[in-house]
Amino acid sequence: MKKIRWGIISTGKIAHVFAEALKYADNSELVAIGSRNINTAKQFSQEFNVPHYYSSYEELVKDNDVDVVYIGTPHNLHCENTLMALENNKHVLCEKPFGVNGKEVRKMIAKAKEKNLFLMEALWSRFLPNIIKTKELLEAGEIGKVRLLTAYFAFKSHQGLEHRQFNMDLCGGSLLDIGIYNVFYSLFMLGKPVDFKAAAGLGVTGSDNSCSITFKYSGDTLAVTHSSFMADTPIIAEIHGETGKIFLEDKYFCPGNIKIIRYTGKEVFIPIEIKGNGYNYEADEVVKCIQDGKIQSDKMSWDNSLELIDMLDAIRKECGIIYPKHDD
Ligand SMILES: NC(=O)c1ccc[n+]([C@@H]2O[C@H](COP(=O)([O-])OP(=O)(O)OC[C@H]3O[C@@H](n4cnc5c(N)ncnc54)[C@H](OP(=O)(O)O)[C@@H]3O)[C@@H](O)[C@H]2O)c1
Repeated sequence: MKKIRWGIISTGKIAHVFAEALKYADNSELVAIGSRNINTAKQFSQEFNVPHYYSSYEELVKDNDVDVVYIGTPHNLHCENTLMALENNKHVLCEKPFGVNGKEVRKMIAKAKEKNLFLMEALWSRFLPNIIKTKELLEAGEIGKVRLLTAYFAFKSHQGLEHRQFNMDLCGGSLLDIGIYNVFYSLFMLGKPVDFKAAAGLGVTGSDNSCSITFKYSGDTLAVTHSSFMADTPIIAEIHGETGKIFLEDKYFCPGNIKIIRYTGKEVFIPIEIKGNGYNYEADEVVKCIQDGKIQSDKMSWDNSLELIDMLDAIRKECGIIYPKHDD
């Protein structure tokens, strides 16, 4: 089968991780890299043996050898970069958060529909075997009715205020950067909550340094989560049911093993095999969808992304997290 040819926009941390992942992805080849800086692009092209390199994102999306563009820029650019790639007839895989608010995500989806091109949010955890297995275990009733989900993602950041973690021009803050995994995990495992309460600790730039959210489900089930750049806490997720709990080890949103601890005292360890660095699974989904002529994934659908961003918007509103250049 013909290989799908990838181009990458940006040469930062995640662009490197994704380029590495493509070595393990099905029917994929990395053919182009675009950066704001020609030297950085050249260096990246040498590191990953990429035939074409460009000093702008515009040149990359005009490359006729590129089928699909992966976007790894800061949050504020996701919508703009996606629209530009779609306008130039490229399929798109865009890093999380898809856009910084529902309005942006709806624009991106409308453009993909208009151009009849594939578009997906790069929420890599959705495609990891441990996360998929956890969902299957829940559905099989392994721990009975779920009573409480906890998901924590926090670390002490040593970045300056200009960095994308804190810079509001780049739509920084813990919620969109790392808390998004907690929100995704709660929605994926338990569905849409009936209510929620959230609070954020805002720093000097106005970004949420820490954010805690409690989701309420029907009956007495809760999901309790926190994200923070101010504290090193374990990055773990647990789902407590009536007969036991499912535990995902540190860092829960990455590839890893699963432990079921029953209230009888019995522990079941479920080892999970992994291919590549884990980001290759989302790339496999993109390739399969494009080869099947689909414009969205059933696994991370446009509705899934809309549910996620609408929830993030509602949480930001409750916490007073505002992106002055993006929110109206
Ligand atoms: N899925 C995951 O596990 C994961 C992990 C980390 C990050 N992410 C996501 O990936 C995106 C990038 O994160 P990252 O950690 O890779 O960030 P990063 O290391 O700061 O890289 C961001 C890149 O974006 C480009 N860029 C364009 N305008 C920029 C600006 N004004 N300031 C800084 N960089 C700019 C730069 O590439 P050029 O100079 O080459 O143009 C830069 O190297 C974010 O959306 C983040 O949420 C996802």
